[in-house]
Amino acid sequence: MAKDKIVLAFSGGLDTSVAVPWLKENYNADVITLTIDLGMVDLETIRQRALQVGASKALTVDGRDALVRDFLFPALQAGAIYEDQYPLATALGRPLIARYLVEAAHAEGAYAVAHGCTGKGNDQVRIEVSVAALDPNLKVIGPIRDWGMNRQEEIKYAQARNLPINPGTSRFSTDENLWGRSVEAGELEDPWLEPPEEAYAWTKPLSDTPDDPVYLEIHFDQGIPTGIDGEEMGGIDMVRHLNEISGNHGIGRIDHVENRLVGIKSREIYESPAAVVLHSAHKALEAMTLSKEQARTKARMAQEYGDIVYNGLWFTPHRNDLDAYFRSTQRHVTGDVRVRLHKGTCTVAGRNAPASLYQYELATYDRDDKFDQAAANGFISIYGLPVRTQNQAQPGE
Ligand code: ARG
Repeated sequence: MAKDKIVLAFSGGLDTSVAVPWLKENYNADVITLTIDLGMVDLETIRQRALQVGASKALTVDGRDALVRDFLFPALQAGAIYEDQYPLATALGRPLIARYLVEAAHAEGAYAVAHGCTGKGNDQVRIEVSVAALDPNLKVIGPIRDWGMNRQEEIKYAQARNLPINPGTSRFSTDENLWGRSVEAGELEDPWLEPPEEAYAWTKPLSDTPDDPVYLEIHFDQGIPTGIDGEEMGGIDMVRHLNEISGNHGIGRIDHVENRLVGIKSREIYESPAAVVLHSAHKALEAMTLSKEQARTKARMAQEYGDIVYNGLWFTPHRNDLDAYFRSTQRHVTGDVRVRLHKGTCTVAGRNAPASLYQYELATYDRDDKFDQAAANGFISIYGLPVRTQNQAQPGE
């Protein structure tokens, strides 16, 4: 009889490498690994490693296009930033990983999927709730959560089976995709301690950044960035290019004590150079093209959207409904934003939009002024009416 199959999301690190034999032994199943490139991965090397640690089959998929198109840019249009700090890189990648896991399980006839998340984090929730939304009958296994081994025991377990692991020397736990790098654990668990330089990999310390600023003109088409300095650019290239050039200027370092869904506070360091630049440019263009009411309502909805993403509720009708709203808000968010990158800061230096609500003739104090200043009298008289009335009727309050 053919063996049961489990599809394991496989990064090639110690945890998921040990998970392959562990799942085979504890579930008496064949383990098919699935490695997904969300921007930072050498798929072939990891595929080989999967086979070396005992996978019956090692699948790979390039998820970069889908990540940018279906997750990162919608989140950019929404202005989704968790607790005013975190552009949600890890959180946006998880539902896509879940989607690929479910697709692979169906294609391979697997009865379960497995992931390498711990039992204390948000990621287990994001993946498992997403899998449940896409296929409620699929079983999900979290070996790292279930096996109760610490790092030393994992290494022993691997050595006893002659697994070609390389435990790595980093004292941090990291996760990366195109939208950013997340770093936690080690001495970062002391929130009083300034992160050591080794915690960072994508961004330069200010002492090493160029003395001269660089200016970029980013073009947006209905809230989607489509070009830089007059040159059209696809999403992946755009994000990679901005990560590199902004990281070189030390932009995108974030030190966040955040509220996890599972009820604990944790301190995480993020590097998100492209996301920081794109969010600030996008917001500047919205300031030109959205009415005051549109902008303020959208900011409230953005907070809700950030919570939905962070809390693992991507595949829900609620998120779909909000996306429809955000898409609608972007109809006129087209134009150019000039940003200045210098010494760790991205500053908006200029903005220009064909459908701009900023009108020079209304704003100017020069001769071209078309604002009817005489009408201000009547406006203030009526606007201030309830204030005058109340103060007369209820004096001394
Ligand atoms: N705190 C972030 C989140 O919940 C990142 C989690 C993964 N971080 C890591 N260093 N492995 O989205």
